[in-house]
Amino acid sequence: MKQFLLLLGILSLLSLGSADTIAFNCNSNQVGGAKCKNWGTTFTWDRPSNRTSEQRTRGAGCGRPNRCSRPPYGSGYQCDEYPFKSVRESDRGNQVNRCVAARQNNAQGQALRNFYYSRGEFRNRGCHNQPPCRLSVAFSNASRLGYCQSRPNCRNDGNEYTRSGPARRDEVQESEFFRLASGTVLFAPGGARIGDVVYHVSFRNETLLEERDVVDGENDDDDDAVVENMQVDEDPIVAVVEGWMDENEGF
Ligand SMILES: *[C@@H]1O[C@H](CO)[C@@H](O)[C@H](O)[C@H]1NC(C)=O
Ligand SMILES: *[C@@H]1O[C@H](CO)[C@@H](O)[C@H](O)[C@H]1NC(C)=O
Ligand SMILES: *[C@@H]1O[C@H](CO)[C@@H](O)[C@H](O)[C@H]1NC(C)=O
Repeated sequence: MKQFLLLLGILSLLSLGSADTIAFNCNSNQVGGAKCKNWGTTFTWDRPSNRTSEQRTRGAGCGRPNRCSRPPYGSGYQCDEYPFKSVRESDRGNQVNRCVAARQNNAQGQALRNFYYSRGEFRNRGCHNQPPCRLSVAFSNASRLGYCQSRPNCRNDGNEYTRSGPARRDEVQESEFFRLASGTVLFAPGGARIGDVVYHVSFRNETLLEERDVVDGENDDDDDAVVENMQVDEDPIVAVVEGWMDENEGF
């Protein structure tokens, strides 16, 4: 069975104010937003009303219709927002958006929802449907995109927008890479520590992921097939990786 992988990380809770970390595949909107637009990686889920969600979506330039429904995108693409519409920080407006394959957006939305409502294999973790709830994001597969490099390339790749047009380059932040027990390299611009537990999130049935459109955080009415489609595996951080991207520059 083909699996679509994301990474989901839970940082050990050492002190007040620390947040669980969810790590997404690096080929996504979030990296450009986190690193190149200074949105950062720690957010607060506030279980927004539909009206608030819609306002946030419009603020991100993802209100309907949006550029992702037109060529070169169109059918099969969705407008992905960063920060997510389910977090309070989006109220600042001018979030970044990116047109991504629906499957990818659905996978991310489902991971967030299971986390917020502590469903499926997150049943003993996450937010337990009790906002406000803090979470951080980090990224795997960091070599795949210029935005993920340790000396990041913040030049717009042509699919990084805000409501008012192509996103402009901002100041670049320092990067941090970590090795997980499985060997996977994790990019955590928000920081992480050796021993922090990270969860691999994978989906058992890819077809199901493609069929059902999920919107992050909107409500808690997913059926069991959708909720239980997600598998969560532990993968702790074992080392800091120095200069990792410099060794891998030929990709
Ligand atoms: C990294 O990318 C490869 C190739 O697309 C994919 O097979 C793998 O599942 C990804 N790993 C993670 C942890 O996302
Ligand atoms: C909010 O939107 C969801 C999804 O469109 C819908 O199922 C739900 O009934 C809406 N809630 C309210 C209170 O309108
Ligand atoms: C995957 O989900 C689809 C759609 O619900 C279903 O038709 C199919 O039988 C499922 N495949 C497996 C292997 O469970």
